[in-house]
Amino acid sequence: MQSTVQSLFQPYTLPSGVTLANRLVMAPMTHLSSQPDGKVSAAEIAYYVRRSEGLGLIITAATWVTPSGGMHGSPGAAADDDIPGLRRLAAAIRERGAKAVLQLFHTGRQGTRTGDLVAPSAVPEAREGAAVPRALEEAEIADIIHAFGEAARRAIATGFDGVEIHGGNGNLTHQFFSPLSNQRNDRYGGTLERRMTFGLAVVDEVQRVVREHADRPFAVGYRLSPEERDMPGAASDAPDEREQPGITMEDTLAFVDVLAGRGLDYLHISLTDFRNPPRRGSWGGRSRLAILQERVGGRVPLIGVGAVHTAEDALEAMQSGVPLLALGRELLMEPDWVDKARSGRSADIRTTMPANGCERLSIPDPMWQLLRSIPGWLPFEEK
Ligand SMILES: Cc1cc2nc3c(=O)[nH]c(=O)nc-3n(C[C@H](O)[C@H](O)[C@H](O)COP(=O)(O)O)c2cc1C
Repeated sequence: MQSTVQSLFQPYTLPSGVTLANRLVMAPMTHLSSQPDGKVSAAEIAYYVRRSEGLGLIITAATWVTPSGGMHGSPGAAADDDIPGLRRLAAAIRERGAKAVLQLFHTGRQGTRTGDLVAPSAVPEAREGAAVPRALEEAEIADIIHAFGEAARRAIATGFDGVEIHGGNGNLTHQFFSPLSNQRNDRYGGTLERRMTFGLAVVDEVQRVVREHADRPFAVGYRLSPEERDMPGAASDAPDEREQPGITMEDTLAFVDVLAGRGLDYLHISLTDFRNPPRRGSWGGRSRLAILQERVGGRVPLIGVGAVHTAEDALEAMQSGVPLLALGRELLMEPDWVDKARSGRSADIRTTMPANGCERLSIPDPMWQLLRSIPGWLPFEEK
């Protein structure tokens, strides 16, 4: 298998000209350990440093673009005084050879740091006790789109190699695309095409800022959930029955057709397990990832993700034809994954979380508590 594992270690150049040393990406993971005001913390940097060796690309935790669109413990890129911390973060990742991409998001109805819960429409999340958000005014939507661009400007200024627009996993950009959370009847909603308007406007604004400010190749990627989001912690991708059907595979195929013509560096398909087929419809047993890869063909690179643990899993996922593959939970359990896979020690790759993983594997304490709180998310070893 060794020669095929080496295929994971071929360099890859994104359309903007950013060259990744290999095909392996660290998936964005919220660590809840930024400072209370959203500034980058030392614990956060240590967590990335422990994992950055040998990867082609690290995508950072979702980073808010306006204070009201952030979560406690998440990093912010909403103000120029966030710049020094972001600069330290980019440098720490890049020092070890990986490229660094800052993931940008707005929580929308998922939560807020400021008490002003907003969303496309006044529709709460389906979970018990969820607060009813306030529907955004058109002028406020324009401000948020502008804020994505401003955050991208800060990413350029601080040495990142790119930004990823987070349009999946139930955040504001996803909420605009979902017919469940977007019940507007203006230019932002009412038809499938109009539900794409917000995400596409963010892409346009970020690309405008990149053209204006970047003096080096700078990547712009887009992450999306191909169907209404997966339940966090579900063993596979079990949907929340209260949130059905929401975004369908057909909606997403139409959206990726449009996104594929926008000159993006990649589309990142957010999945809990790369093997899973769509939830409804007959697709010949093919996985969502393979269907999307076939649809986009060579128009834009895809990043696959979801339940890649062993080197065999990685090779199986690459058979869908995607050029890039992200690992999330696995890199929490095994920060030395890349080194072990590359040097023929795949059998030594750890696929369970040691009971003392928090200290031993540089996982920030709030993230450790989060991981422990969601049953089934990680296979924890008993003490
Ligand atoms: C603790 C944790 C935090 C996460 N935070 C984010 C995030 O900030 N942004 C995002 O797009 N996905 C987030 N995800 C989803 C992962 O990027 C990834 O899609 C998911 O974990 C499946 O891949 P895996 O099986 O390799 O972990 C998170 C996942 C975990 C486990």
